[in-house]
This record gives sequence, structure tokens and C-alpha cells, in this order.
Amino acid sequence: MKLRAGTTALVTGASSGIGAALGRSLAKRGVTVGLVARRKERLEDVLADAKANAPDSRIWPADLGDLELAERVALEAWHAFGHVDILVNNAGIPKRRHVTDLTFDEVEEVMRVNFFAPARMTMALLPKMLERGKGSIVNVSSVAGRLGNPREAAYSASKFALNGWSEALAVDLWDTPLEIRLINPGAIETEIWYTPGEDDPLYEGDKEPPENVAEGIVAAIEGDTFEHYLPDMKPIVDAKQADIDGFMAGAAAWVKSVGR
Ligand SMILES: NC(=O)c1ccc[n+]([C@@H]2O[C@H](COP(=O)([O-])OP(=O)(O)OC[C@H]3O[C@@H](n4cnc5c(N)ncnc54)[C@H](OP(=O)(O)O)[C@@H]3O)[C@@H](O)[C@H]2O)c1
Repeated sequence: MKLRAGTTALVTGASSGIGAALGRSLAKRGVTVGLVARRKERLEDVLADAKANAPDSRIWPADLGDLELAERVALEAWHAFGHVDILVNNAGIPKRRHVTDLTFDEVEEVMRVNFFAPARMTMALLPKMLERGKGSIVNVSSVAGRLGNPREAAYSASKFALNGWSEALAVDLWDTPLEIRLINPGAIETEIWYTPGEDDPLYEGDKEPPENVAEGIVAAIEGDTFEHYLPDMKPIVDAKQADIDGFMAGAAAWVKSVGR
């Protein structure tokens, strides 16, 4: 979809990291943005920047783990803006925990925020987008939606769910004007790595700035291909698909080598 002044986008997880960078980047292009997350003050900071170029932008402070509220926010945004051209399901929480230390409540919470909320918001807007004959749905997943990350079983499961959902959705909607985009970020320097209550990350290597991912998402929206690895980690996913037993043995050896 070509972005222009007057395009409307609802971006979840817009109070920090990738979503905040994307909100600012879309607004710079004149896109009216609806910004969703729990932390109101942080949303207001992003909104202040967005309003410089997109004065009708708004915030919706909301906990998307409440799925009825998630649906209400999507419908309220449609009503407030007149329509939503682009829904970006970006909000997400980590869960860095060895599987033997995970509780089922934690698994459920991660699935709710990372998968059920995107599904619920998509299903709320899908009939309206179809009726209008226009719409783009962008799901910000993870390379952990293609690789089962050690010590992140719940997080990986939620992202695999989002990837499978996105693929099937795109095929179901193949002959419609709607556009589905799947974004698989790699390691990006955001607060998700420092969320309180999580185990320390196993990965301690380089991370890319969230602004790079935001620009990649803009390019994905304006382009015509489904899946986007930002940065390009597809060769690693391809290597896993070619030899999953070898890949898992390598992953287990790597976990031992970092001492956990
Ligand atoms: N950073 C990485 O290395 C990386 C890699 C792969 C994929 N991703 C994915 O990228 C997306 C954005 O993450 P990020 O890296 O930018 O991390 P982040 O800075 O922690 O951003 C996460 C966003 O999600 C929001 N959020 C979390 N729980 C929510 C809830 N219950 N209701 C509403 N909003 C909620 C947070 O806002 P509030 O706390 O204010 O609610 C925040 O705006 C996530 O889906 C993440 O899984 C990130």
C-alpha cells in the first residue's frame, strides 16, 4: 500500500522500541497513527512527535491481554478515524524461562498478548477492510517464530502461532485486495531485553536499532512481498529447515558454551 497523507494506521506496542519508532516514522510520512500500549505517558511522548506531521493522531492506552478490550480498541479506532488502512500488530512480551521453570499461567499470558490479541484485533477489522476493499495487516513476529529459541518455549510458541496464522490468512485472502505482511525481527536494541522478571538473555551479541526495523516495516507495507527478516536471518532459518536435528544439536551445544 502506498503511504500518503491521510492514510490511517493502528500500531500496537507503540510506547517503546519498534512500535514507537514505527509510529514516528509513519507520522513523518503524514500517516495518521493510532498508538496503543499500556503506558500512557510513553504513548503521549510518541504522540507529541507524531502530531507535528499527522495532527489527527491519537492514543489508546490499553492492556491488550484483555482480549475484549483489544477488540474494542480496534473498533474504536476504526470509528474515530473513519477507517483503518493498516493494522500493525506489534505489541509483544518476552518470556525467558527454562521450560521446567515455566508456569502455565505464563504460557497463557504470552499467548494472549503475542497471539490472541493480534488475532482478535484482526478478526474485528477484517470484515470492515473487506467491505471497504482495502487494508493491510502487518504482524510483527520474530525469527523465534521460525526457530525454537532455547529458554523461550512460550515466546517461541506464540511467535510460531503468529507466523502460521499470518501465512494461512494471507492464502485465504489471496484473491482479495487485502495485504498481509509478516515481519521477523532478529536482535533489536529495545526494552524487551531488559524486562523485569525475566531470566537473563542467552544472546549477548550485537543488536540493531529499532529505527532500522521501522524503516523495513514501512518498505514491507509499500512493497508486495509477504515475509521480511529484519535483519536478514533467513539463511539461518533455511539451514535449520535443511537439517533440523543438526541444528538442534548445535543449539544445545551453544547453550552449554554460554554456561547455562
Ligand atoms: N527487540 C527484539 O530483539 C525483537 C526481536 C524479535 C521480535 N521482536 C518483537 O517486536 C515487537 C516489539 O517489541 P520491542 O522489541 O519493540 O520491545 P519493547 O520496547 O518492549 O516494546 C513492546 C511493546 O509492546 C507493548 N506491550 C507489551 N505488553 C502489552 C500489553 N499487555 N498490552 C498492550 N501493549 C503491550 C509495550 O508497551 P507497554 O509496556 O506500555 O504496554 C511496548 O510498547 C514484539 O512483538 C517483539 O516480540 C522484538
